[in-house]
This record gives sequence, structure tokens and C-alpha cells, in this order.
Amino acid sequence: MIGLVGLSCFGQPPTFYRDVLPILQNHCQECHRAGEMAPMSLAAYAETRPWARAIAEQVGAGKMPPWFADPCCGKFANDRSLSTAERETLLQWANGGAPAGDSHDAPPPREWTSGWNLPSPDLILKMPKAYAVPAAGAVEYQYFAVPTNFTEDRWVTGVEVKPGYRKGVHHIVVYIREPGQTWQQAPTTSDILGLYTPGASADVLPPGMARLVKAGSELVFEIHYTPNGKRALDQSQVAMTFYKGAGLPDKRVLTLEMDNVTFRIPPGDRDYSVSVWGTLPNDALLLSMLPHMHLRGKSFEYDLIHADGRPEVLLRVPKYDFYWQLSYKLAQPLPLKQGTRLDWIGHFDNSKRNPRNPDPTKEVGYGHQSWDEMLVGFFDVAVDPHLDKHAFFMREEKSNRR
Ligand code: HEC
Repeated sequence: MIGLVGLSCFGQPPTFYRDVLPILQNHCQECHRAGEMAPMSLAAYAETRPWARAIAEQVGAGKMPPWFADPCCGKFANDRSLSTAERETLLQWANGGAPAGDSHDAPPPREWTSGWNLPSPDLILKMPKAYAVPAAGAVEYQYFAVPTNFTEDRWVTGVEVKPGYRKGVHHIVVYIREPGQTWQQAPTTSDILGLYTPGASADVLPPGMARLVKAGSELVFEIHYTPNGKRALDQSQVAMTFYKGAGLPDKRVLTLEMDNVTFRIPPGDRDYSVSVWGTLPNDALLLSMLPHMHLRGKSFEYDLIHADGRPEVLLRVPKYDFYWQLSYKLAQPLPLKQGTRLDWIGHFDNSKRNPRNPDPTKEVGYGHQSWDEMLVGFFDVAVDPHLDKHAFFMREEKSNRR
């Protein structure tokens, strides 16, 4: 890297307290603070200084902060990417000797809830017992029931799902099992309270919106464990905040998904595309999108097809990275009409040029394990608070029959 000693617009080189710390607070500390996923804290000068060179490298290469949406399309509320000016400031600081500056210039420390990115959780629920993740081998999806003990319906405005043993947990889906339901493994028609995927932000819903957890419901944690060489205990948790207004919230939030389970990717194929499409059974506000593929996943795009056939890109992830599965939350919820056509398209690299490819000589299809593949596009919508997932889809059947 070229050692450019840059000057800020006031002709002074950037300092930690005045210029760098505000950027770290807003773009890095979500993960780089004690107890969070990143290997080191970037909160104090003494902690950050030794990493100056690494920061210049990672930021210069666009690897940190992790964010994969093409800026071409869509504006996202949880966009953690750096502006050009912010990136320049970090690079100039790191390459200019990483000076501390005057601590009086520091912004007030950012307040975090210890252990959580969800601000001030009202309730934290844990798996009742720890699960022993084996050191090796493939583990089938595991399901753990967690009682809520809710004696009345609760509307949930914010959720964060957190693994206990982060290194051995690939992802978690927290399903809501309502009283009277008897399923053991969640059918896709059941409602989702929240997800954990590597790098996902806490899910804070827009004002007036919430997810419903009915009185007497249980939460069912579906966990995909990926053994990483050492036997360890996992006891995953979910934190939530509740709606505190009178009566019902304005909107109920549902997590939907469209996936393709019938594809076969030929061995050696460098650019195999898989798509799935559907029409929206009811009016809804689109809130967020979370693309999911495995190790051969290369790119993912969410398109809306207008009535005149014109496609509009809602989200484009040109370089999909299995190790970072982010949810992209629209800065402005997007109203979609009943009947709107939605297309998801993904590209896969099943060749030996893909260094992560578990086996380029194999044809690969849908499956749970990471050596199988998936094309799933999760998306959150906000609907009338009286609708549940079932009713939301029922109307489609009616209108199709008409
Ligand atoms: C979403 C969480 C997240 C955010 C936000 C984030 N990081 Fe990271 N960072 C990580 C993780 C996790 C690693 C460990 C690398 C890995 O395992 O890929 C990492 C690694 C790094 C490293 C390399 C450490 C090493 O061992 O060499 C640097 C430097 C870094 N981050 C700087 C930053 C900076 C600067 C920001 C903000 C501008 C930032 N990160 C934002 C999660 C994050």
C-alpha cells in the first residue's frame, strides 16, 4: 500500500479522537467491541492503534466493513458501508502514523447494551439446555423448543438472535409455534420471529410495526451446527423488545421466502443460473431481503417485474459471500400490490476455479448441508395487523380460483 500522508479538508492530518473514532462507532463497533463477533475491539485508541495497518489493508481492499449490496440499486437503512470521505480518513490516518490527537475532541462514547446490538431488550430467552456440538462430522438440523410463558399476545418490535458457540453455529431460525400446533420441524408456513446469520444486524422494525407472538406460544430454534474441530457447548439466545403502544400496531411483519428446490448444477459449471419467481398474494410493504446460498453461490439478485414487463432491481449482490449472510433493510418500505411478480436469480460457480467449492466434480442440488446448495430469498413484509401468514396466502388461492 502506498504511504500517502493525506490531509483532511482543514489541512490537518486526521486524528483518532476527532476523525477516526466517530467512524469506528458508526461502522465498526457493532462487531468490533468486547463480546461481539470480531476478533478485536476498536473502541479505545490503545486497542485500535496496533491494528492501524490491518485497518488500512482491510478498508482499502473493501473487505471491511462487510457490506455486499451494489450501490446501483436500492437504499438501505442498515447500510454500513463507508463513504469515500470516511474511507479516505481511515486510510490517511493509518498511513500517516495513526496519531491519537486530543482526547477532548472525542465524540461521546456510543452506548451499547452489553452483549447485544438490539438496544435495551425487554426479554431474553435461552435454550433450556446446552447442546454439545461434536468436534467433527455433519450434524442434521437440530430443533429446540423454548417456552415463552406469555399469558397474553405480545407484539415484538425488535429481535436479535445470538448463538452461544458462534464458531460452531452456521445459522439459526427462530420459529413461532402457536398453541395447538404440533409440528416438530417447522413447515415453511410457520411464522419466523428472527434469524441469525453471520454478520446480520439486529432486526429493529420501523415504528408502528411488530411481529405477533400469541399467548402460550413456544419458540422453536432451528439450528444448523457446523463442527469446527472441537467439541463445545452451545446455548443460543433471542432478545426482543415489545410494542408499548395502546391496541394493535399499524402493521404486522411476516418473514416470507421463495426458494428453488429442483435445480441440478452440472459439475464444473462456472456460471450456472437458478431462479424462482412468484406473485404476491396480497398487498404488502416490502421491508427487507436476505439472500441465502451455500459455498458455490456467486451472485444474487432480487427483481420486481412491473405490469408492463419492466424489471426493477430491488437488491443486487454481485459478489455473494457464504461467510457473510446479511439482511438488507430498505431505507423506505416499498409498497407492493397484490399480484406483483417477484423474481429471484442466483448464479453458482461449480468449477474448480471457485476455491470454496467442496467438490467441482459433483453435480449438486438442493440440500441442507453446506456441500449441497440452496437458493432461498427471504423477505420481510408488513401487512394489515389482522392478517396472519395463512390468511395472507389464502387470498391468493381465492383470487386464483376466480
Ligand atoms: C458485521 C461485523 C463487522 C463489522 C461491521 C466490521 N467488522 Fe471488521 N471484522 C469482523 C470479523 C468477524 C472479522 C474477522 C475476520 C474474519 O473472520 O473474516 C473482522 C476482521 C477485521 C480486520 C482484520 C483483523 C485481522 O485479524 O487481521 C480488520 C482490520 C477489521 N475487521 C477492521 C474493521 C473496520 C475498520 C471496520 C469498520 C470500518 C469493521 N472492521 C467493521 C466483523 C466486522
